[in-house]
Amino acid sequence: MAHIIDGKKIAELTRADIAARVAAFKEENGFAPGLAVVIVGENPASKVYVRNKKKASEEAGMYSVVCEMPESTTQAELMEKLAELKSDERIHGILVQLPLPGHLDEGEVLRFIPPEKDVDAFHAENTGHIMIGDYQFLPCTPAGVMTMLRHENIDVAGKNCVVVGRSNIVGKPMAMLLLHANGTVTICHSRTKNLAEVTREADILVVAIGKAKFVTGDMIKPGAVVIDVGMNRDENGKLCGDVDFESAEPVAGAITPVPGGVGPMTITTLLENTLRAAILAVSNK
Ligand code: GUN
Repeated sequence: MAHIIDGKKIAELTRADIAARVAAFKEENGFAPGLAVVIVGENPASKVYVRNKKKASEEAGMYSVVCEMPESTTQAELMEKLAELKSDERIHGILVQLPLPGHLDEGEVLRFIPPEKDVDAFHAENTGHIMIGDYQFLPCTPAGVMTMLRHENIDVAGKNCVVVGRSNIVGKPMAMLLLHANGTVTICHSRTKNLAEVTREADILVVAIGKAKFVTGDMIKPGAVVIDVGMNRDENGKLCGDVDFESAEPVAGAITPVPGGVGPMTITTLLENTLRAAILAVSNK
């Protein structure tokens, strides 16, 4: 029986600490850290994520704006909205929810958000900082995973860490943070040969491949820490991760559930980054 890592609980504790720091910031500066979230179109999962981001930022005492734009939004309209937010002094962090509808140029959007307001840490300048290890903004999901590991007293140094998935949002920055924590890191992806042989070597296995129940118990080393970043619907429409919890849980030493695992930690990092952006804005004045 694996220990279940309770992301909801860890997020609650961490957010209480952030809310206290936001209150102190407001006391000192007379205004709240401000977050703007931009969503284009009707993607149902994105709408849920955006709603959760707004709720969490308000609960933390932040100024929160959601810009909902229709599916038919043109690139010029989106860039105009971003230019407005860029020069808005009340807004310290800007996040454009991904994926964008196919006709929009994601690269141009991510390049346009100024690095000092880029609370997703997706701008090339910020991803470069993550690579070097001198970052201001933490990549939201990977940093949330690291917070979980620290909270559970799981030491990464010297461990075999396997990351399944190589996305810019999760896989690549996750590998970097594990490396910075002195893990021995392997990144696997759809073209990896003998994937199960690689995952079975992992002391810490992070799965972010975007396929429901992809990693099964036989792919896990007994006693391993299994972190499931996935958020999918199974054949019955029920939320599930990239790990088949039922077969993985008896083998793993510790495992994150879906929902209630990594998800709440992602938003926690976003709050941390927004507060940091506000502090930076004040110190750069
Ligand atoms: N879509 C899925 N995850 C994320 C995220 O962390 N940030 C943004 N902006 N979009 C996402």
